[in-house]
Amino acid sequence: MKLTYFGHSCFLVESGGTRLLFDPFITPNPLAAGVDITKIQADVILISHGHADHIADAVALAKQTGAKVVANWEIADWLGLQGVSNTQPMNHGGTVGLPGATAKMVNAIHSSSLPDGTYGGNPAGFVVKMGEESFYYAGDTALTLDMKLIAEEFALRFAVLPIGDTFTMGAKDAVKAAELCGAKKVVGVHYNTFPPIQIDTAAAQAAFANDGLELLLPAIGATIEV
Ligand code: NI
Ligand code: MN
Repeated sequence: MKLTYFGHSCFLVESGGTRLLFDPFITPNPLAAGVDITKIQADVILISHGHADHIADAVALAKQTGAKVVANWEIADWLGLQGVSNTQPMNHGGTVGLPGATAKMVNAIHSSSLPDGTYGGNPAGFVVKMGEESFYYAGDTALTLDMKLIAEEFALRFAVLPIGDTFTMGAKDAVKAAELCGAKKVVGVHYNTFPPIQIDTAAAQAAFANDGLELLLPAIGATIEV
């Protein structure tokens, strides 16, 4: 599987010819100035919650790519009002079939409102299955014991976890999250974009290594094998 990082919590996973894009926030992110969003192609766009730093480019990219947008009911409804009709609304605990993948919506401890102040429903994470491989994108969340349920159901190839602290868990809790969900390989996101989430990345990687886990921090625009 290939993962391309577009900065903050935006990334694309590609497997078996299917491209899944998560939490598009690119054009407002100065660190992602080198990413040309007009070149992004996706079959599905998954939105974890309504905050602007996860949805800023969703309408533009949904229209550009024609991708199906997966989100909770409230966000899917709001996207409809912005002219995005190809949506897959869902809610926590549900699993939906998508082109080349399935996605289960799981709990996240956070908040969710849309950029114009509209109620954004509850924040979520996703466990995605592509072929025989599964991965977990936690969205914005605190550490929660609910993550243990993911390990009981799925053998994760990797997890994408926030590590920036302040608005989500920091690296120390993300190590525990990786243990709970059973992921040995973690892609860290939601760090260094803004001053309140600036972290010591070497210390974060050391914390994961101390536990026998791998923390991958791809450069913005880079594609890695996961
Ligand atoms: Ni958020
Ligand atoms: Mn966020």
